[in-house]
Amino acid sequence: MKKILAILLVLCLILTGVFAGGGRESSDAIKIGVSMPTQSLQRWNQDGSNMKAKLEAAGYKVDLQYGGDNDIPTQVAQIENMIMSNCKVIVIAAIDGYSLTEVLKQAQDKGIQVIAYDRLIMNSDAVSYYATFDNYKVGQFQGEYIRDKLNLDKNDGKTYNIELFTGDPADNNVNFFFGGAMDVLTPYIKSGKLVVKSGQTTKAQCATPGWSTEEAQKRMENLITANGYGPKGTKLDAVYSSNDSCANGITNALINAGYTKDNFPIITGQDCDIVAVKNMIAGTQAMSIFKDTRTLAAKVVEMVDAICKGTKVDVNDTKTYNNGIKVVPSFLCEPVFGDINNYKSLLIDSGYYTKAQLGL
Ligand code: BGC
Repeated sequence: MKKILAILLVLCLILTGVFAGGGRESSDAIKIGVSMPTQSLQRWNQDGSNMKAKLEAAGYKVDLQYGGDNDIPTQVAQIENMIMSNCKVIVIAAIDGYSLTEVLKQAQDKGIQVIAYDRLIMNSDAVSYYATFDNYKVGQFQGEYIRDKLNLDKNDGKTYNIELFTGDPADNNVNFFFGGAMDVLTPYIKSGKLVVKSGQTTKAQCATPGWSTEEAQKRMENLITANGYGPKGTKLDAVYSSNDSCANGITNALINAGYTKDNFPIITGQDCDIVAVKNMIAGTQAMSIFKDTRTLAAKVVEMVDAICKGTKVDVNDTKTYNNGIKVVPSFLCEPVFGDINNYKSLLIDSGYYTKAQLGL
């Protein structure tokens, strides 16, 4: 009898563990909304699918949506649907950080928690948490790369020509990327060591609407024409670019102007997109920043889980990200520098890309 009781007790413990222990079964019915900006840029597809896979593995139902091709009304409508269908948490990478104030009031009224993903959502107190990379550091690494490659601290009387590109003005990250880079580069521009021949140095002048490759290419073509840049013309030593989609457009324009890997200006980037890594291998982009979307997605899944279970959400920054209404508690992941010398260990050995994806 005692033996049977003991067996029953063990069985009971196992069953309670399975159904209430935070495992698959208990969270099975909980729905999480994931709203990504676009499928046209590689990284967001990776972010979206990583998060879906990880959330599903943790037992959640996932409504993953992409906002058309960066279409703000589409994203707003998708978020509205997520609210109507009772998602418990909604994770959002905003197309336009300033356009979600109204729709998020509805989420707040229903007690739905919102996590801003990668990009901060502005002017809303409905945002509970923010998970991103250290965006200032991204810009700083890019600026320092240009400083070091051009040896700007060397007192040799040489000057260098540079042009500057950043991303969409409605993306709060731009303030940090461009800000971080300009904090490094501005002293050299002021001293005349770095020369921006176009005179375009403000965030507004250097913006690229929608982070579009085509827009960046058009602006670079105009800069080439207006300033006479070319392998046989005015020397161009570097182009600061906040990310890879812009770098790609800049690179296209420079190749069309006759530059080759032997005389290519230093171009910076961010994301380690496949196209950018191929350009690094070909010698037409100098560096990129690797933001491992697997790490960010894992962090967000951890946040979602903590919210759903009512446990403490892990953050590591409670000062930096003010969205105009409040400072949003944030978790900042570490960005990593990538170039021709470390891309193999960074991207292939880590399983992020296969050799075949990089055309190797
Ligand atoms: C992201 C970058 C990305 C850019 C364009 C930014 O908000 O942080 O990783 O390159 O958007 O999609």
